[in-house]
Amino acid sequence: MCLRHGQRRIREPAALVLWLAVLLCAQAPSRAAAGEQLAGTQASSDWWKHAVFYEIYPRSFADTDGDGFGDLKGILSKIPYLRSLGVDAIWITPCFPSPQVDFGYDVSNYEDIDPVYGTLADLDALVSQGKQAGIRVILDLVLNHTSDRHPWFLDSRSSRGAKHRDWYVWHDGKDTRQPPNNWLSLFGGSAWSYDATTAQYYYHFFYPEQPDLNWRNPDVEAAMLDVTRWWYGRGIAGFRLDAVDVLFESPELTDNPVLPGTNKLGDPIEVDTYNRNLPENHRVLKDLRKVANDFGAVLVGETWTDDIAALKRYYGEHHDELQMPMDFMFTTVNRLSPPAFRKQIAAAEATGEWPVYLLGNHDMVRSYNRYGDGTHDDAIAKLMAAFYLTLRGTAIMYYGEEIGMQNNDPKVREDVKDPIGIKGWPKEKGRDGERTPMQWTDALNAGFTRDTPWLPIPASSVGHNVESESRDPGSLLSFYRNVLALRRSEPALREGAYHAINASDQDVMAYLRAAHDETILVALNMSDHRRRIQTDLHAHMRGPFHLLRLLSTPGATASGAAVSLPPFGVFLARVQRGS
Ligand code: GLC
Repeated sequence: MCLRHGQRRIREPAALVLWLAVLLCAQAPSRAAAGEQLAGTQASSDWWKHAVFYEIYPRSFADTDGDGFGDLKGILSKIPYLRSLGVDAIWITPCFPSPQVDFGYDVSNYEDIDPVYGTLADLDALVSQGKQAGIRVILDLVLNHTSDRHPWFLDSRSSRGAKHRDWYVWHDGKDTRQPPNNWLSLFGGSAWSYDATTAQYYYHFFYPEQPDLNWRNPDVEAAMLDVTRWWYGRGIAGFRLDAVDVLFESPELTDNPVLPGTNKLGDPIEVDTYNRNLPENHRVLKDLRKVANDFGAVLVGETWTDDIAALKRYYGEHHDELQMPMDFMFTTVNRLSPPAFRKQIAAAEATGEWPVYLLGNHDMVRSYNRYGDGTHDDAIAKLMAAFYLTLRGTAIMYYGEEIGMQNNDPKVREDVKDPIGIKGWPKEKGRDGERTPMQWTDALNAGFTRDTPWLPIPASSVGHNVESESRDPGSLLSFYRNVLALRRSEPALREGAYHAINASDQDVMAYLRAAHDETILVALNMSDHRRRIQTDLHAHMRGPFHLLRLLSTPGATASGAAVSLPPFGVFLARVQRGS
């Protein structure tokens, strides 16, 4: 998760005859064609492979009851938008009853909806109307911990002999003032809190209000598997599994190694050797997958790792763990570097698995800011969309990236809502900035709410919103719609093999997507100056061919096998056999 990898706040032809045929406009298939395609992919059990997922932070998507917080009815009201955008599934971050210390990642009841977001009936309506629109719903399952207000924990802390005592991780301290060992909470301070009622410490990898469940207790696993069955029975298409790398801790409680220096929260820098990535995690994933298979469900994992072998292990040796472990490595590149991206794609491809790419989420600075240079931000956002949405793999979008939403970090500590921002201010401003309300219109509060929004909406919402961008064929939103429609209509983009071309170019990221007898060229200028490249196409094509433009940004042209790209320009073409 966010602080683990420090990615937040980083602003940081002689033999061949080649012909060119250029179409004047980007070709986007009609929605009717898209609908037919959707119906086709829906039937298949690996629908998720060809899907685009869209992450929704429900608190910030659309408010229908006027309390300043988004709700499920709000999401329901936006199904036509999601359909017109061209996504296949939505992942809703936790909307279960919760004291909201970590905005829903502290669950006090796994089988209901928090009143802030609505009712179970609203969720049922979302699932059924989503189904009619060809949009599946996946929920966010917080497995590692519950809220300290969950009845299981209330019972657990009540006495050493309580029924649920062993459902959580309790230990004696070294003494009453010293926790059992040096493990640190990701959110600051010791990972152990002393509980006077029973004179023991309980363990929490995150906030003290998020006590860790004891996954060594089979009753915990049985209860969680039942939770998944209960939701599958209601039509949920799968889960995004929260924090799956920290389910288990070493029972020996060995101190973690400590490195020199301190982190943004003022804590020593620790390597989570004994409380992260324990092999036992995989046993749980296998068990979750067995149940998911009974319901044809998909499991997406929050799998932070910078180790490609570890990422591969999450799929399971026999493809019996996660279908979709998230590859976060793009999000650590944070610069427009074709060599760095090529390296990562090659590594993901070498696993032989189906990759899962994303540019951002609710725990990291928005991609618009991370990749933008302050001058060409919209062009760069288009470039990044054309990039990750044309790679071989499943894509997960984060709400608002399609309209160029920017981070809106709190200006003063008093305004911060995310507790890590309060604790870490000013070095760590928390995650409010990337969680601001969706920008629908130019109107007051960006059309998100009729009341005061729970987080302030930036001035950049004027112009960067669904309504005004829908009117502009040159907008970022129109570009996203065109790329998503193209991905849906072109089998080569959905399932074709990836071949890097011009692989030593420092500025232009170019590759082919090839399926059956269809080949598509993607050329992306990641630099701020015009670049003309002679593509290596002849090495991949036998016989004559010509390029047929599918989608491009203004000023991008091709001639023969050469492509000329303006700063941050995009050019996608079908490589058509024959002269
Ligand atoms: C995950 C979530 C993050 C949350 C944490 C604790 O990393 O993405 O938002 O704070 O888990 O549940």
